[in-house]
Amino acid sequence: MGPADRSLADLVLVSNRGPLAFRMEDGRPVATASGGGLAGSLHPLVEGTGATWVASSMNDADRLAAAEGLMTADGLRIELVEPEPDVYNLAYNVVSNATLWFCHHHLFDSARRPRTDRRWMEAWDAYRTYNRLMAERVAKVAPERGRVLVQDYHLALMAPALADLRPDLATSHFTHTPFADPSVLRMLPTAVGDELLTAMAGFGACGFHSERWAAAFRSGLATAGLTTAETPTFVGPLSTDADGLRWSAAGADVTAALARIEDAVGGPDRKVIVRVDRMELSKNLLRGFWAFDELLEREPQHRGRVVFVALAYPTRQGLPEYLAYQDEVETTVERINERWGTPDWTPVVLEVEDDYPRSLAALTRYDVLLVNPVRDGLNLVAMEGPLVNSRDGLLALSREAGAFDRLATGALEINPFDVTDTATVLARALACGAEERATRARELRDAVEARRPVDWLDDQLAAAR
Ligand code: F6P
Repeated sequence: MGPADRSLADLVLVSNRGPLAFRMEDGRPVATASGGGLAGSLHPLVEGTGATWVASSMNDADRLAAAEGLMTADGLRIELVEPEPDVYNLAYNVVSNATLWFCHHHLFDSARRPRTDRRWMEAWDAYRTYNRLMAERVAKVAPERGRVLVQDYHLALMAPALADLRPDLATSHFTHTPFADPSVLRMLPTAVGDELLTAMAGFGACGFHSERWAAAFRSGLATAGLTTAETPTFVGPLSTDADGLRWSAAGADVTAALARIEDAVGGPDRKVIVRVDRMELSKNLLRGFWAFDELLEREPQHRGRVVFVALAYPTRQGLPEYLAYQDEVETTVERINERWGTPDWTPVVLEVEDDYPRSLAALTRYDVLLVNPVRDGLNLVAMEGPLVNSRDGLLALSREAGAFDRLATGALEINPFDVTDTATVLARALACGAEERATRARELRDAVEARRPVDWLDDQLAAAR
């Protein structure tokens, strides 16, 4: 049964980013694609089902769109919570993005971060307020004995308020990021770490994309002296809509984008390494470029014959760490191109403007797809690539991505911290024979197609208690 063929009128989804997003154009709110894997993956699963989706307005355009009645989707009831902009800024930028994201991805530069001083505690208070507001709205709109599926690290504290206001509801929480190991969670103030774990333990169940992240959560509970018996964890990874993606990849806009990529690559005989990411610290772009540089140094036969097409779209531009990272990435690419480039060969083609047809086109064209995050909840690109690629391309995949659990057999494993290892894996991928490529490509496709996106939703529905 397809998702839209059934009624999910008892379902309340809750996430920070909702299914619709708006931006201002000439003083008017204009609909735009909602960013992020979570919202984009959930939307098609619940459209037309009569479910309710509680989300936050993220900017003025969202607020205006809601006021003008534009926040509507077919067969979906969207409930937009509108926190005070100051409260939202502290909860989203300071706590969710600059602290919890860094914590769960083990990104803290421990000589300086986290800096949890009195001002940060005010932000934590705003995060509590934000979670409380979301819980209040759910309590108001949820049907009697409904099922409430809360998504991600922005909303870790909702359970106590939900239990208090609506004890009839069945709840579960799903974390899309990794979960911090106890030693990293301990970098937060002790009371904050304990509050986070205690609140999450208040959900009916807690889900993760990988057993590693579930185990880290259980270890955190144990370290904090909390009982794990009352908090079932489950592993229910998201998957990709294979038919939908292939349909999109066959579009005329993708064909046109592919022609432009071929132009930049400089000919169909050249091999192409591709990466498609947000310009995100955890995605480990720098080590990917350093590895390519080492490859060109070690194996001269690749000079002039391989192009690295890197699509890296800006994200979280309000955080100084991200701006500095983008600078460093761009400078690194310039250096590599200066060092190795020739008049008719640009070794690295870096594009930083978001362009979905171009991303899909690059995924159809790669000989090697590099996915080397230092830590990643799942990684959808690693699953999308093998579905649309037309050249039996290889997947060089970090063992620190949740997707590695399912794709290990078909992928080439990377230790994402080891530049030399990454260069060796790239070299091996470029030298790989046709038979092995075909076998691995088939294994990857089979592994991805073994699970559908709706299975992920069903796992959460089944776990809610
Ligand atoms: O990785 C988990 C996730 O929720 C993704 O779905 C999304 O890309 C990101 O984190 C959150 O991004 P944003 O803050 O732009 O919604």
